[in-house]
Amino acid sequence: MIDDDYRDYDRADAHVRRFYRLNHERQTLDFARERRRHYAALNTARMGIWEACETLDTLVDDSDPDTGLSQIEHCLQTAEGIRRDGHPDWFVLTGLVHDLGKILCAFGEPQWAVTGDTFVLGCAFPDAIVYPEYFAANPDAADARYNTPVGIYEPGCGLDNVTLSWGHDEYMYLVARDYLPEPALAMIRYHSFYPGHSTDAYRELLGPGDEERLQWVRRFNRYDLYTKHDSPPDIDALRPFYQDLIGSYFPAEIAW
Ligand SMILES: [Fe+2]
Ligand SMILES: [Fe+2]
Repeated sequence: MIDDDYRDYDRADAHVRRFYRLNHERQTLDFARERRRHYAALNTARMGIWEACETLDTLVDDSDPDTGLSQIEHCLQTAEGIRRDGHPDWFVLTGLVHDLGKILCAFGEPQWAVTGDTFVLGCAFPDAIVYPEYFAANPDAADARYNTPVGIYEPGCGLDNVTLSWGHDEYMYLVARDYLPEPALAMIRYHSFYPGHSTDAYRELLGPGDEERLQWVRRFNRYDLYTKHDSPPDIDALRPFYQDLIGSYFPAEIAW
């Protein structure tokens, strides 16, 4: 597979289209605010990072046209790609944990509220989002308050002050924010925000520091995408290294 063959949504399976139809119809500003409020309390579970990796092991992401690997394999492949290139240990750890928010599926959330590309709610849906035609069925698309490029926001308000569609990025940011450095948190929080980090959409909402944050996200993103067809990682052989690395940033058990 060459790089241009990744994220090919025109040739994606029917299940990817079905996923985005549900996601675009149902992710409203009210929904995202309510889910964020609910999960920000971090009173759903207590477990360690490695335990979360193992819990994810049976989940396959319906929104991803590129991989049928399990999530723990994807997490380890991403981390190993970063490690191979000699990046700092917190960057490697970010590769390991970036998708652990998908544990929301194990908490009973449907895939359309967990995975897939994210986008801003409370303003117009730009065509840069995959399958923009599915937003016609989203109630927010018919609400005049949300129909301009900045919608309910002030121009230049900054990414940290907008509400993105709810899913594993924002959730893992909430879980990890006391433990990892700022660039790691940007990578986790915005890695699925393709219209923001890979197109010119939402320029008018960016604020101080956002361009630098998005640079970190882009640096991370190539490992998230282009390690998917490396050979499957040897989980048992890698476990001791990653358990040590986890232990230098996270306590044995954290709140989810
Ligand atoms: Fe992800
Ligand atoms: Fe990922």
